[in-house]
Amino acid sequence: AKESNEKSNMDSVNIQDHALINLHSILTSLFSNAIKKAYPTLEDIGQPAVSAGSKFADYQCNASMQICKLLKAKGENVSPNAVAKKVVECLGQCDIIEKVDVSGPGFINIWLSRNKLKEILKYILENKLKPKPLTNPQRVIIDFSAPNVAKEMHVGHLRSTIIGDSLSRVFEFIGHDVLRINHIGDWGTQFGMLIALLQDKFPDYKTVSPPIKDLQKFYKQSKVLFDSDPEFKKRAYECVVKLQSMSPDHVQAWKLICDVSREEFQKIYKRLNVSIVERGESFYQSRMENVVKELENKGFLENDDGRKIMWSPESSLPLTIVKSDGGFTYDTSDVAALKQRIEEEKADRIIYVVDSGQSVHFETLKKCAIHCGILDPSKVLMDFVGFGVVLGEDKKKFKTRSGDTVRLASLLDEGVKRARDKLVEKGRDKVLTDEELELAETAIAYGCIKYADLCHNRSHDYLFSFDKMLEDKGNTAVYLLYALTRIRSIINNLGTYTQDLNESISLDHEKEWKLAKTLLRFSEVLSKITEDFCLHHLCEYLYDVATTFNEFYDNCYCIEKNSQTGEIEKVYTGRILLCKITEEYMSTGLTLLGINTVSRM
Ligand code: ARG
Repeated sequence: AKESNEKSNMDSVNIQDHALINLHSILTSLFSNAIKKAYPTLEDIGQPAVSAGSKFADYQCNASMQICKLLKAKGENVSPNAVAKKVVECLGQCDIIEKVDVSGPGFINIWLSRNKLKEILKYILENKLKPKPLTNPQRVIIDFSAPNVAKEMHVGHLRSTIIGDSLSRVFEFIGHDVLRINHIGDWGTQFGMLIALLQDKFPDYKTVSPPIKDLQKFYKQSKVLFDSDPEFKKRAYECVVKLQSMSPDHVQAWKLICDVSREEFQKIYKRLNVSIVERGESFYQSRMENVVKELENKGFLENDDGRKIMWSPESSLPLTIVKSDGGFTYDTSDVAALKQRIEEEKADRIIYVVDSGQSVHFETLKKCAIHCGILDPSKVLMDFVGFGVVLGEDKKKFKTRSGDTVRLASLLDEGVKRARDKLVEKGRDKVLTDEELELAETAIAYGCIKYADLCHNRSHDYLFSFDKMLEDKGNTAVYLLYALTRIRSIINNLGTYTQDLNESISLDHEKEWKLAKTLLRFSEVLSKITEDFCLHHLCEYLYDVATTFNEFYDNCYCIEKNSQTGEIEKVYTGRILLCKITEEYMSTGLTLLGINTVSRM
């Protein structure tokens, strides 16, 4: 008896947090322990393969074959079936498991305990999906969006904004301490060009706000002059030097330019419900000066034709730290920013959400930062989250007909218009109040734009098509939003019927059971996202939940109504509770994707 007691102490898994219970990881660690106990001399096989959703069981462990092979290599000949049986014998106690058996060539079938799952779901019903505070939350810095001042924000920045916001939401939800940083391009040569132009065209720019509404046009004009007029070019450079040494007039002009851009960016963030702290390249000016001195003193900088560069033995390219005219670069600001984030912000993890075109830049940055001692990878994680380009319907880079970059504001406007047209097409304008209609059209428009982005593997390019993303069938935001409004209306239609939360959640029907298991994969999905930063896992999960819910609803009566009077005759409370739990998971999941939900649309 003593022995079995010890065994259960060692193996039983303590469920810390019902809201974030991860069945997959519990099973994986149970089996990993069992395998170690069954075959103590075998080298570590890593995570045993445990998968959900087979026809024959709730979960399955398929590690027997792999173990057989390893044993064979040691001269031991055992059948996979015998291996599976031995592993099962060594399995520790865990109340989420109802029963385990071995079938065929060594598959281990796992059945989950209905009572335990009921207990977990009941907890979620009563307490909502609110994870317990972490004992060791990490300081996570997420660098995303980062448009450039005086240039229009484009679809590449849109992707970064959508992915970065959603990742931030996931890390915040789990309980980490997230700092969202907008590393905008607000420093450098382009500002010298712009200020030089202002000096020519608006000599009193310091007292009167110049008409910088059309900043982009200015930017283009100044660029033309910069490339064609050597005198202008020289003056532009002088302006950069003056700006970077904080001459008041130049700083004043620069501030005006940034204000105009900031206002434009802010409009987009407001529409998309994205919060982010602006900390542009300019923020690091004095820190760049310091880090350059430090790198110089420590001998990390190398002279290359007047430039100062930094190599790491691991990287194929250097970073340019000081230009031949003495100015700093994008590289310099990233080195200074990394140092600031580690030393001042005490980051445990820094995540950069930037288009894949910059992967080499960030790889080089990481290697050089490790080489010169700014980054200790055993203490601070630095992750690059790249993404592909947005393609137009012609499969070429997304552009307007005239070949210009697409203005984000007009893209969002078009989305709203198309969403409204769809709703009108369905006659919803006659059913919904004006307020409801407005909520619905923005939820659909911004929701579908975000979802179309997030549901693809981020590293692939994806095709931007309003027609596709506004479809109400298939894996789209519209489908999910409709599914959710349907669930909400089932619950709301109950009206005065009381719903006794103490009634037992119904899990006996095959479809009820399937829905419960699907819902409980939530935390597994989130933890995967914290490893590979791929939000399409969450989209797939939500799509799965919605379709599984529909299966359940088609097969299981929730409410019976009198066919003549339409009056409610019977309520299956145990199922209504399941509807409520599904609502909680779906609305939480959509919120993590940054998608607003509605009750009617
Ligand atoms: N402003 C840059 C661009 O538009 C992106 C900045 C990304 N973040 C960073 N720390 N480098 O390309």
